[in-house]
Amino acid sequence: MVKSGIIYSMDTRAGFGAIFDLDGVIVSTDKYHREAWRRLADELRIPFTEAQAQATRGVDRMASLAVVLGEHAGKFTDEQKAALAERKNGVYKELIKGITPADALPGADTLVPALKALGIPCAIGSASKNAKPVLESLGIAGMFDAIVTGYDFTHGKPAPDVFLVAASRIGVEASRCVVFEDAAAGIQAAHAGGMKAVGIGNPEIVRGCDLFARTLADVTPVQIRALFAL
Ligand code: G6P
Ligand code: MG
Repeated sequence: MVKSGIIYSMDTRAGFGAIFDLDGVIVSTDKYHREAWRRLADELRIPFTEAQAQATRGVDRMASLAVVLGEHAGKFTDEQKAALAERKNGVYKELIKGITPADALPGADTLVPALKALGIPCAIGSASKNAKPVLESLGIAGMFDAIVTGYDFTHGKPAPDVFLVAASRIGVEASRCVVFEDAAAGIQAAHAGGMKAVGIGNPEIVRGCDLFARTLADVTPVQIRALFAL
């Protein structure tokens, strides 16, 4: 009883919700998005810099295309741009065909169940229209209480919409939500929505986050709860 009492007291005082970005947080698909954009840039014979690669992180498909095309964007009609985005998506879908649970990033399979065991609802908040098939390939779609993808909102990150939809689906006030993100646009989106932001991956990219960890394996529920005690 003492043991379960400790867990129960965290449960009742926790009172927050957790929202996870997918690509680069739960699974290493960020490298496949990057590779697909690089191939498109190569085909178009335009440069694709490290800064551009980082700026596509977390950003929806058409906004990412604008980043990739850069100063060349004006050379293409809207119809051509739609076709280019479709081409990139075709390459991306080929690249993710072989995804298995082994592609999950460290901690995804332990932190989410640990939070859920404490009564903390967990959602996916991803800009990707491929998020559901990716989660299914990983075999973890059922682990989340809500899955919000690129089909569920209008304004992409850095707008907070994706996370606000996720918060409402898990029934938690935005100010009581924490977002796990590997992208600068995602940290901005979380803060724009009045949420806490845990930066995952590269500290240079997620500058401004409320808590940093290399991977989800380096985060504990107690650290997360502490964010709400500030
Ligand atoms: C995520 C990725 C981005 C990607 C976006 C849209 O946010 O981090 O790199 O551009 O999803 O993905 P989609 O699969 O819909 O093209
Ligand atoms: Mg991401």
